[in-house]
Amino acid sequence: MSHPQTAAPLTQDELKTLVGQAALQYVVPGEVVGVGTGSTVNKFIDALATMKDQIKGAVSSSVASTERLQALGIPVFEAAEVESLSVYIDGADEIDHQGHMVKGGGAALTREKIVAAQSKMFVCIADESKLVDVLGAFPLPVEVIPMAAARVMRQFAAMGGSAKLRLKDGQPLVTDNGQHIVDVTGLKISKPLQFETEVSQWPGVVTVGVFAHQKAQVCLLGTSTGVKTLKF
Ligand code: 5RP
Repeated sequence: MSHPQTAAPLTQDELKTLVGQAALQYVVPGEVVGVGTGSTVNKFIDALATMKDQIKGAVSSSVASTERLQALGIPVFEAAEVESLSVYIDGADEIDHQGHMVKGGGAALTREKIVAAQSKMFVCIADESKLVDVLGAFPLPVEVIPMAAARVMRQFAAMGGSAKLRLKDGQPLVTDNGQHIVDVTGLKISKPLQFETEVSQWPGVVTVGVFAHQKAQVCLLGTSTGVKTLKF
């Protein structure tokens, strides 16, 4: 007797492809779209190439995304060339049930926050492992001016966190903006708006990876049963 075949659960990579494709429905034909950074966004960029003739182009949040967009023939505009964008599509390291996020795992948080701020709507694309009740499970990235790194790390330690300078090939990672990244663990960020406001004011902090002021309005979440749309 043959047994009914149960479909294998989708891999994380397949979930990323699914949400990357689903995000196309938010792209406004004839306009410039804001594009984030990361492995999930790479899937979105690949999907965007299928409708490149219907859009003017993109504003990108990183050198890596710019290179991928251009390689696929999608024109990339400087942020300063475009006053406002209808939509910004980006991934997240964590997202809570209100649409607040932690971002910056790919070190692109500063440009991501700039492009998000000039966009009317933030559509987050993520797999379900990123959905959390309280932000703080993923290390919090903070971009800092190098001379401030040690002081900023001590300030996080005083808050009960533990901060480390992000390294690449044994050297401090240098962002697209020529700065460093500090990753902070051990914090529970239960008041993201206040937290973002406070840390943003510390001397030498370029950008904190909490996106509460620039939170998502929509999250396309890849789940075992398909794409779930969360609205905030
Ligand atoms: C890059 C980011 C990314 O959006 C975040 O790290 C998620 O990346 P991925 O889609 O690869 O999981 O903030 O700075």
